[in-house]
Amino acid sequence: MNHIKAIAFDLYGTLFDVHSVIDQCEQRFPGRGREISTLWRQKQLEYTWLRSLMNRYVTFEQATEDALRYTCRHLKLDLNEETHAALCDAYLKLRPFPEVPETLAHLKARGLKLAVLSNGSPHSIASVVGHAGLRDSFDHLLSVDPVRIFKPHDRAYELAEGAFGLSRAAILFVSSNAWDATGARYFGFPTAWINRAGNTFDEMGQRPDWELSGLNGLSKLFDGA
Ligand code: LAC
Repeated sequence: MNHIKAIAFDLYGTLFDVHSVIDQCEQRFPGRGREISTLWRQKQLEYTWLRSLMNRYVTFEQATEDALRYTCRHLKLDLNEETHAALCDAYLKLRPFPEVPETLAHLKARGLKLAVLSNGSPHSIASVVGHAGLRDSFDHLLSVDPVRIFKPHDRAYELAEGAFGLSRAAILFVSSNAWDATGARYFGFPTAWINRAGNTFDEMGQRPDWELSGLNGLSKLFDGA
């Protein structure tokens, strides 16, 4: 791993658990929390990809808000404005996965530069990271907002090279999203796929360089264990 000088992390699903909104969804719609959370995330992602294809960028928060409206309409749930606002606010306060703070501290102590590289907006990234008390863990919080196109487009991944001032071969990209790991690898990043749930990697012509069952696997990689 000696050639790796920096790590860029995906945010949603990789460092933070998007399904930590299930509790709030349950409170508003008892018995439907998981179903809402799952469809909400799926639609949110689809909207980012489709908007990129259509060249009709909106912020990640807007895509998230639109996806929740779709989800509740589809599931025939009555979503009033107060509940919509409360659930979207919950998305700004997601929980990090348990091993995340310690792993980030370990990697930082090894002298690696760390960044978030997310489809989130500057506001949503800063909220989620700040709420968890992890702002100081990162050298950069990189949003795709300046380039107005979402990952997995190359222009989004280029942001990490610019911020770190390093070539892509020296930046490890880490994501739990197989589509994101695929895009990153096409771009030219060495890539680690965090596969906590035992999912199947996508068939889009790439495989990750490393598959790990949690973020703490990175510490072992860098320790040579
Ligand atoms: C991110 C989401 C889309 O870019 O996983 O953080």
